[in-house]
Amino acid sequence: MALDIEAIRADFPILKRVLPNGKQLVYFDNAATSQKPKCVIDAMSHFYEEYNSNAHRANHTLADEATAALESARARISSYFGTGPANLIYTSGATEAINLVAYGWGRYNLERDDVIVITEMEHHADIVPWQELSKTHGVEVRFVPIDTKTFTLDMEAFEVALDGAKLVCVVHTSNVLGVRNPIERIIEMSHAVGAKVLIDAAQGAPHERIFFDSSGADFVAISSHKMAGPTGIGCLLVKTDVMAEMGPFMTGGSMIRRVTTEGTTFQEGHAMFETGTPRIAEAIGWGAAVEWLAQFDMREVHAHINDLASWTSNQLLDIPGIKIYGDPSHKDSSGAISFLHDGIQSQDLAMLLDEGGFAVRTGHHCAQPLMDALGVPATNRASFWIYNTLDEVQAFIEYLRFICERFA
Ligand code: ALA
Repeated sequence: MALDIEAIRADFPILKRVLPNGKQLVYFDNAATSQKPKCVIDAMSHFYEEYNSNAHRANHTLADEATAALESARARISSYFGTGPANLIYTSGATEAINLVAYGWGRYNLERDDVIVITEMEHHADIVPWQELSKTHGVEVRFVPIDTKTFTLDMEAFEVALDGAKLVCVVHTSNVLGVRNPIERIIEMSHAVGAKVLIDAAQGAPHERIFFDSSGADFVAISSHKMAGPTGIGCLLVKTDVMAEMGPFMTGGSMIRRVTTEGTTFQEGHAMFETGTPRIAEAIGWGAAVEWLAQFDMREVHAHINDLASWTSNQLLDIPGIKIYGDPSHKDSSGAISFLHDGIQSQDLAMLLDEGGFAVRTGHHCAQPLMDALGVPATNRASFWIYNTLDEVQAFIEYLRFICERFA
């Protein structure tokens, strides 16, 4: 069944937004954050209006309802990701999830000279924690380069880098290039040398179903706000035996079993890593988001986004002065199109597009090593999602042509 994009759009109040200059919003910054359907907004308002309370603490009615909602969201979200509730640790987002691997697993299981393999196309969230761990624990961080002609990971270099690796951390889908890495092969190759694997699926999860248990990955980091859920929440999915190797990261309330003046014992399982008041409203919102997303076949969603990205990138290549970084028409691409104009500075181009109502992102996209490999300081990036339409991308191309003819 084909997606009914108009019906989908009707679920998102913000898509009707008219900007202060009278232009209709065209939202192409989905790789930064997606918009939220009404059911997510309503689920969160309902919590605050009807049963706002802390969870896992008191025995009154509201506290029981909040606790039940927090845990039923965990069940719903973990099931969406093909695993059980015990394997899901709520975090503030993908960044905290990766830091949790560094501090909750790496700190307890890695030693001086152990090798961590990462790639040049990682988001800073999957680079800086490892560099910090290298300062405190003397681990070696190896970067796998990209092939700057195909904008894909150099898999021969990856194989070489695996020698002696204890941990491999790879982005599922690049937020800059839109390229999807061959994570199945990466997991297989990494496990063959005895390395654990962390997949950063912040950009992957909004584009395809992630089935954690069958993926074989040891850790998967996910963010809610790029897949119709609220900001402020995400998760780390962890294999059961790997979670048993982890130790405390953030410490304080909730994650303890008993605290005395002599010392502290900790909870077990995901509870050990969920410190302080939980993100209750956010978990409820994310639960509503996965329920909303589950009504669609993500292969159809992906095909729709891929059609828009292919059409747009072909048109962009026809505009004199435009260069694209990546291959947005590739069947696996997430539809993020990074581009530059050789005569219009990227910030200026983004502001001109904004005047026309088009929201695109500009900057280094928290991927400076990738920018260095590409030899540019920044790119413009248009990124599409389930509710974008052919009319919107046609209007975008028309407006961009107008800008380029007028200002270049
Ligand atoms: N990492 C997000 C992006 O690519 C914020 O825009």
